[in-house]
Amino acid sequence: MTRLLDLGILDGPVLVFGGPYGNLEATEVLLAEATSLGIGPSRILCTGDVVAYCADAQATVERIRGAGMAVVQGNCEESLGSDADDCGCGFEEGTACDTLSAQWYAYARQTLDADAKKWMADLPRRITFTMAGRRWAAIHGGVERVNRFLFASTAEADLADELDTAGVEGIVAGHCGLPFTRHVGTRLWHNAGVIGLPANDGTPRVWYSLLTPGTKGITVEQRSLEYDHGAAARKMVKRGLPQGYANALHSGLWPSLDVLPAAERKATGRPLAARSVSWPR
Ligand SMILES: [Fe+2]
Repeated sequence: MTRLLDLGILDGPVLVFGGPYGNLEATEVLLAEATSLGIGPSRILCTGDVVAYCADAQATVERIRGAGMAVVQGNCEESLGSDADDCGCGFEEGTACDTLSAQWYAYARQTLDADAKKWMADLPRRITFTMAGRRWAAIHGGVERVNRFLFASTAEADLADELDTAGVEGIVAGHCGLPFTRHVGTRLWHNAGVIGLPANDGTPRVWYSLLTPGTKGITVEQRSLEYDHGAAARKMVKRGLPQGYANALHSGLWPSLDVLPAAERKATGRPLAARSVSWPR
């Protein structure tokens, strides 16, 4: 059964982020940013994959749990929560992502305690809320398939189908690792990106979003953060995690582009800009 959580009406700015990936340094900077913006845990949403590539699996779970925000169950939480043999990311067998995932997933599985895994297993699969009179759902990948990769270049009809399935006007998703916002007819699809790895844009910055309700609708701002990526990368190397992801924290370039559609591959190394989108247009 799909576990759902409804947050009711959110009438102030909401901070959304995805993929902490066990990157404690980035998580601390994100939480400090929320504090400096005056946004408390009742208006912070995480789209899942709290633990993946980086070194501080347990500490990152504790920090996110302790902060008291709502968290969507990602494929990593689903897999770790059920003690599955792999991350369930949806990587094709034999690809670089698949090979590397065996290493970081085994490390996360070994490092997390039973209480953290239980917390992951119990997380909601979908979180709904109302903002500026519009119904939203926060999910991880797709509405029904947790590891579905949906990108900025995904066909509009596919995003529309997902919105239909959820029965909402706006979706906040995660999983694909890249921030973007798409108007889907009169509806909206937003991915806040992730804070645990850069956005394959050739810079070490990581991304989160602010959804702000106003009298005419909602503003969706895509914002970057800088953090001590050197410290996070050094820990990964010290703990024997894949060098490719440790290097990515510095270079801003992913070690493999296996999961990316052609348009996103082509954008490799092009620095992303902060962006603000109004909805309705
Ligand atoms: Fe994911």
